[in-house]
Amino acid sequence: MSIVNVGIIMNGVTGRMGTNQHLIRSIVAIREQGGVACKNGVVIMPDPILVGRNEEKLKSLASKHNIARWSTNLDECLSDEHNIIYFDAQTTVRRAEAIRKAIKAGKHIYCEKPTAVGLEESLELATLAYKAGVKNGVVQDKLFLPGILKLKRLVDSGFFGKILAVRMEFGYWVFEGDWQQAQRPSWNYRKEDGGGIISDMFAHWRYVLDNLFGNVRAVSCIGATHIQKRVDEEDEIYTATAEDAAYATFELDGGIIVQANSSWAVRVNRDDLLTIQVDGTEGSAVAGLRDCKTQHRVNTPKPVWNPDIANPISFLDQWQEMPTNDVYDNGFKVQWELFLKHIVLDEEFPWDLLEGAKGTQLSDLGLESWKERRWVDVPELTIGGTLNGEKVKAAKS
Ligand SMILES: NC(=O)c1ccc[n+]([C@@H]2O[C@H](COP(=O)([O-])OP(=O)(O)OC[C@H]3O[C@@H](n4cnc5c(N)ncnc54)[C@H](O)[C@@H]3O)[C@@H](O)[C@H]2O)c1
Repeated sequence: MSIVNVGIIMNGVTGRMGTNQHLIRSIVAIREQGGVACKNGVVIMPDPILVGRNEEKLKSLASKHNIARWSTNLDECLSDEHNIIYFDAQTTVRRAEAIRKAIKAGKHIYCEKPTAVGLEESLELATLAYKAGVKNGVVQDKLFLPGILKLKRLVDSGFFGKILAVRMEFGYWVFEGDWQQAQRPSWNYRKEDGGGIISDMFAHWRYVLDNLFGNVRAVSCIGATHIQKRVDEEDEIYTATAEDAAYATFELDGGIIVQANSSWAVRVNRDDLLTIQVDGTEGSAVAGLRDCKTQHRVNTPKPVWNPDIANPISFLDQWQEMPTNDVYDNGFKVQWELFLKHIVLDEEFPWDLLEGAKGTQLSDLGLESWKERRWVDVPELTIGGTLNGEKVKAAKS
């Protein structure tokens, strides 16, 4: 057995996602299980250095999780050759600048979505990484949710026949912050700080739809700022300048129609915070975060519209739960393990900065559709073209 220690700069690790998903549930969990054991006897051991602005917070986070290294000096971390990966979970507006620096320092890149606030910058990062020859990856955690993995199994098995339409309901009530504390950071509701549910959630919807059902070809979207005033972390009232709901329709390859409601101003009356219903000629399914239920055409009830009598069919009882045949680990951790194997063993890792840029492309086009009140086509995205006058070859189409 040979142990490969991988130095990882973790920036933005004191935040909600950085601390909970990436540090505790991924990197600390991997260290506690003894690293990532690979088939060839290699064990990959992540060796993080926590980076941020606040010395006290970093020190306490590091000691709480048995991590030896922390720093408030990103440049110093970047110049240390032991650190070969730069990871970023800062607020979205800060990401591009830090990633540019890290690419320049020759680090491999792994980061949260959206990769930047707009398509131009996202594409620039993908191009820079490609040109520099550094490996790169973007968090696409929803692909690793048990419910979505079950849905993917149904798609791959041909269960649906021809897929006709998909309906996605995402959201919950995010408290305004006055009489109950908000459960999301206030920058989410300020456009100037990179907020807005379109940029946040369309980055997810793009890879979920592309990977499960077919490439997104067109979007029609209307957004809304339903809650105008909120209260921030300092108990100050602020005006929401970003939308907190988006009502979108997407058209996919093969003519599949997707309706996706995303809202932080909706009360949950469904099985989960995200539910995805897929209707096909042979059967239908509804997936949540962990579960997925199906109804085959042979089990489909035959309702007749008649409001004069009590409803004779219990519709919700006519679905069958898919069994949990696999053991599902935390999705963020699973993706970290795959990324570490990509770095050390050169194993496949398809979710790169170009895939991330596709998410930003969809949110930009969603915003354009809303502003112009029309359908907008989603063009193919490549990193071909020129950058700073130099020709860059397309990595993929
Ligand atoms: N994959 C997912 O499901 C998912 C879910 C939520 C958020 N996110 C993404 O993760 C990122 C972080 O979101 P969050 O909810 O954890 O936000 P957060 O506000 O809780 O954390 C942001 C981090 O950035 C740091 N930061 C903020 N301003 C800074 C500054 N001026 N200088 C240096 N550091 C600064 C903070 O200290 C903190 O560590 C966002 O890009 C968001 O879109 C992803």
